[in-house]
Amino acid sequence: MEQLFPPVFLLRTLLPGHNQFAPGPPVALYDKRSDTNDQYKIPTPTSPDPAKPYVTLTFAQSLDAKIAGVGGKQLTLSGKDSMVMTHWMRTMHDAIMIGIGTALNDNPQLNTRHLPALSGSKYHLPRPIILDSSLRLPLDCKLIQNYKEGRGRRPWVIGQVSENSDWVTRKQALEAAGARVIEVKGENGRISIPVLLTTLRTLGIRSLMVEGGAQVIRSFFAEANSVNTIIVTVAPTFVGNDGVGYGDDLVSTALPNMEPTRTELFGRDAVMTLKVIR
Ligand SMILES: NC(=O)c1ccc[n+]([C@@H]2O[C@H](COP(=O)([O-])OP(=O)(O)OC[C@H]3O[C@@H](n4cnc5c(N)ncnc54)[C@H](OP(=O)(O)O)[C@@H]3O)[C@@H](O)[C@H]2O)c1
Repeated sequence: MEQLFPPVFLLRTLLPGHNQFAPGPPVALYDKRSDTNDQYKIPTPTSPDPAKPYVTLTFAQSLDAKIAGVGGKQLTLSGKDSMVMTHWMRTMHDAIMIGIGTALNDNPQLNTRHLPALSGSKYHLPRPIILDSSLRLPLDCKLIQNYKEGRGRRPWVIGQVSENSDWVTRKQALEAAGARVIEVKGENGRISIPVLLTTLRTLGIRSLMVEGGAQVIRSFFAEANSVNTIIVTVAPTFVGNDGVGYGDDLVSTALPNMEPTRTELFGRDAVMTLKVIR
């Protein structure tokens, strides 16, 4: 029978208070406080700072630290087992964030479709959040379509405050299509991560999974105080120097202190977790 609860590896990493749970009937793990469709909600990690969500920065990379192929071509780096692990991670978070580069390139769904089927219940779906200063998200993208068809949560698009008339028109179009646009202050032309996190917490987001792409990963590495845990899937493959990497521009002095906490094999992939030490 397929396992109907997250890998113990994830529970120990994200819910240290749940260390006592060994594999077994999932009933003890389920949070019945959940809203309507989410009967199968698993407890979510909570931040030690009540003003910010718990942040899990996560991505899949090749052995040469690439997260996509030549020209940004989407690569399926994760094998089946680590993909399922990532979908368990999704259902454990209130929200999942990507940058507009990923939304435009991959048109992702950010759902939990690789988890084993449930009878009579649904997995908690994380709210999709897109960093998109100038509101370029296509109105017909899968995130908006899935929401309209009742198969996903309403996407939140984070734009930079603007009075530009094109921007206002885009905002109205996105909202008419079903997305919610949230305006956040910019910093050096980019959405300010600390301001964004505080805003998200006031909107009820307790935990945030940041899934990429390259620029977003770099921004979170540069905000040492914003990340709680880093979970990296390393696939046994090389992409080469034309692939998309995130590592070249990391500033050594700005990197947070990180303590490796676990490494486990999921199929052919190694998944490593690091705790950010404040
Ligand atoms: N392997 C993996 O795990 C994985 C996961 C996700 C994506 N990917 C890959 O990553 C690639 C896309 O990466 P990317 O670097 O082009 O795009 P990205 O990181 O997804 O998005 C970057 C864009 O987000 C917006 N943004 C707004 N505020 C930001 C901030 N504070 N920090 C960073 N970005 C901010 C900017 O556009 P505006 O200024 O217009 O807002 C920026 O150009 C794709 O090839 C995709 O397949 C891989």
